[in-house]
Amino acid sequence: MSAGDRPAIAGGTPQRSRPLAYARHQLDEADVTAVVESLRSGALTGGPDIARFERLLAGVCGAAHAVAVSSGTAALDLAVAALGVGPEDEVITSPLTFVATANAVVRSGGSPVFADIGPDRCLDPAAVAARVTPRTRAVIAVDYAGMPADVDAIRLALPRPLPVIADGAQSLGGRLGGRPVGSLADITTLSFHAVKPVTSGEGGACVTDDGALAESVRRGRNHGMTSTAEERSALNWRYDVTSLGSNHRMTSFQAALGAAQLSRLETGRERRRELADRYDRLLGKLPGITLPPRPPERESSWHLYAVEVSPEDFGCPRDKVIDALRAEGIQATLHYPAVHLLAMYRSRGGRPGMAPRAERLAERLVTLPLFAGMTDADQDDVVAALIRIQSWAASRPGWAVEHGEPPAHPGQPT
Ligand SMILES: Cc1ncc(COP(=O)(O)O)c(C=O)c1O
Repeated sequence: MSAGDRPAIAGGTPQRSRPLAYARHQLDEADVTAVVESLRSGALTGGPDIARFERLLAGVCGAAHAVAVSSGTAALDLAVAALGVGPEDEVITSPLTFVATANAVVRSGGSPVFADIGPDRCLDPAAVAARVTPRTRAVIAVDYAGMPADVDAIRLALPRPLPVIADGAQSLGGRLGGRPVGSLADITTLSFHAVKPVTSGEGGACVTDDGALAESVRRGRNHGMTSTAEERSALNWRYDVTSLGSNHRMTSFQAALGAAQLSRLETGRERRRELADRYDRLLGKLPGITLPPRPPERESSWHLYAVEVSPEDFGCPRDKVIDALRAEGIQATLHYPAVHLLAMYRSRGGRPGMAPRAERLAERLVTLPLFAGMTDADQDDVVAALIRIQSWAASRPGWAVEHGEPPAHPGQPT
């Protein structure tokens, strides 16, 4: 093996001089124009930009109502509240998610109950059914990496009917049996965080066919008030407060950005799908790498591309792979540590063995860069770096150990 084959973490030259993010927003001139026009419209919050964004979103999701809010986290809080979850209630969800999903249940006063995942990396319907108790109030399915959870199968497996929230923070544009994300669950929550394929900087939405749920979310984002500031600017200045809410409103210029971005939802998804297919072709034969699942009848939004690393076959542990890729200038990362094993959830009773498939996967996943603005050359860098790390690790058994255990992963990406 030549010096050029030495990975950067072992003293070689990094694959990239400019770091490659794992995901990145894409802005074009139309986005900038839309925001500037919104700023000039006279409305900074509320107004026609919000209404337009909500109409477009409902259309894309094939749902009757979309309510724009300040973040995907706010959308989860409002969805959980709209279903009436409170103290004594249990909500079944996935441990393979961003912690915001479970936190929303805790904030409501209820208890998240973690069911294991299936081969699609989303909730396993049979595992969900096994966790239902008399206290179960709802299920929150999580569309991991953009793959829509099989909400139909979850409903069928349930021993009694329960409302299903889909955490679709990553899956806008995905499909199950031809039906779009947003039309599958009782209520779907979306995120427009900066790293998401459609962004408003920060932002989120609840999407539903149920008028009462939509109204609850609309009031909840506005302190539980019976009218908005716009409605009160005319003759009717009186209002009442019917439930506890907060300020979860999105600004008008964020909605204008979201609407402009939404017009490129399909072209962005198409490019990410193309890159995902290309990863599959280029990495399919690399020892110790399992490609992301592709269950039939489902189309991912391809927000993330996460491979599974077998330490034995690849030649070193997963954390070492992430460290080595980062040394190459490639911001590989982990989505996610199993939520029930995070310190706060351990203190609430989370234990190893509660969700063995999710726990095993959380020890082996590596998210590789994927975003619509990524070039084939960027992707070739990732593949070349991974091949180099693997052949180095495989030819030096014990190499990862000699270099010491990698540091705990700092911070958690969303
Ligand atoms: C699965 C999941 N749920 C919830 C959230 C929270 O969304 P936000 O960051 O917009 O609050 C995120 C995103 O970051 C996410 O990936």
